[in-house]
Amino acid sequence: MLIEPVIKGVVAKNAHPVGCHEAVKQQIQYVKNAPQIQQGPKRVLILGASSGFGLAARIALTFGGAKADTIGVSFEREPNEKSYGSAGWYNNIFFKKEADKEQRLAINIVGDAFSNDIRDQVIEAIETYFEGEVDLVIYSLAAGIRPKDETGEFWRSAIKPIGDSVTGASIMLEDDSWRETTVPPATLEEEQATLKVMGGEDWESWIDALINSESIADGCKTIAFSYVGPEITHPIYLDGTLGRAKIDLHQTSHSLNLKLANFNGNAYATVCKALVTKASVFIPALSPYMLALYKIMKQKGTHETCVEQMQRLFSTKLYGQKLIPLDGERLLRMDDWELDPETQHHVSELLEVMNKDNFTTIGDYQGFKQEFMQLNGFGLTNVDYHRDIDIDNFIKLTP
Ligand code: NAI
Repeated sequence: MLIEPVIKGVVAKNAHPVGCHEAVKQQIQYVKNAPQIQQGPKRVLILGASSGFGLAARIALTFGGAKADTIGVSFEREPNEKSYGSAGWYNNIFFKKEADKEQRLAINIVGDAFSNDIRDQVIEAIETYFEGEVDLVIYSLAAGIRPKDETGEFWRSAIKPIGDSVTGASIMLEDDSWRETTVPPATLEEEQATLKVMGGEDWESWIDALINSESIADGCKTIAFSYVGPEITHPIYLDGTLGRAKIDLHQTSHSLNLKLANFNGNAYATVCKALVTKASVFIPALSPYMLALYKIMKQKGTHETCVEQMQRLFSTKLYGQKLIPLDGERLLRMDDWELDPETQHHVSELLEVMNKDNFTTIGDYQGFKQEFMQLNGFGLTNVDYHRDIDIDNFIKLTP
């Protein structure tokens, strides 16, 4: 059979398994040829390991010099009667396959990272495969909901401004259309729910659980990913519900840093660049900024994908350095190239003239969409999409 992409709004409804494998292989190839990670961690736990920054971090740490073994937790759709499985499902499978080839351990745990059951499974896996300890914990969850303990109810995040509404455009990848939207301000309940889902509480509870189970190695570090962005994005991001949650995450990094000091370890919130991922295309009114940013950063030669960001993070900032470079708020900045003043000046100029008629030509819409398609295994060079694939061969694979 042939698999054609199915997109609804900004959500990919299917994935191409061969393409997902190719995307993983291309990222591995990139990190193998990049400057290598020195003195990297050997036993890594990644929460949110199947796509975006988490997968990129896993690839960088396994193949980009550190030769790490990894336990990856993710929440992905396995094949069933309605679908052939999500991209992340296949990413887990093919990452493991590639890691196996180089005798690197890759344990995939698929389930809800907010649940106690998954916590227990992870602690057991650390015991079994990592001699009971981890050297690095990466918190890279991008979730929409979090179960309230035992009640069967959920906190649901809402990506909204706080105080005033925000008007901007969202771009529908389904039909390449520009839709003007006005996002109303969040209610207090929505603000609090977003904090519960995307703030620092769950990160802290994971580290507490690992401390309690004596799974933290001497010198263990933990990082969680954040976004700050330029002022132009603040009304929808930093000053909105998601930004509140990220500020909470930054504060959590300080308390975790104190806790990990008992193990000679550290905790850092790591601020990344705006990039196309399953999660980020969901943020209303942010896409025009990303089209302008992609265009300008590519012109300047400073654009990076998730895997490029992660390889640079581990090889030039987090490992092998005498001093980890932090800003005045103890944040590790990987958005340094994005926030370069000249870049932002040109981005603002582009945004002033961008509209529904010209966004595909003056912004980097092609690049934006291509990255999105590739996240789901479509549009990759080296894959013959006209060739029949026997889906049963893929459906029976397990992570
Ligand atoms: P993504 O959607 O590509 O990856 C999210 C990961 O979380 C996936 O592996 C998914 O399976 C996993 N996940 C979601 N809910 C889960 C659950 N309940 N249990 C277990 N696993 C679950 O997202 P992306 O963009 O890589 O986001 C990761 C982090 O990076 C987020 O905190 C995000 O805010 C942050 N970030 C993203 C930026 C971007 O532009 N994409 C920029 C800066 C920070």
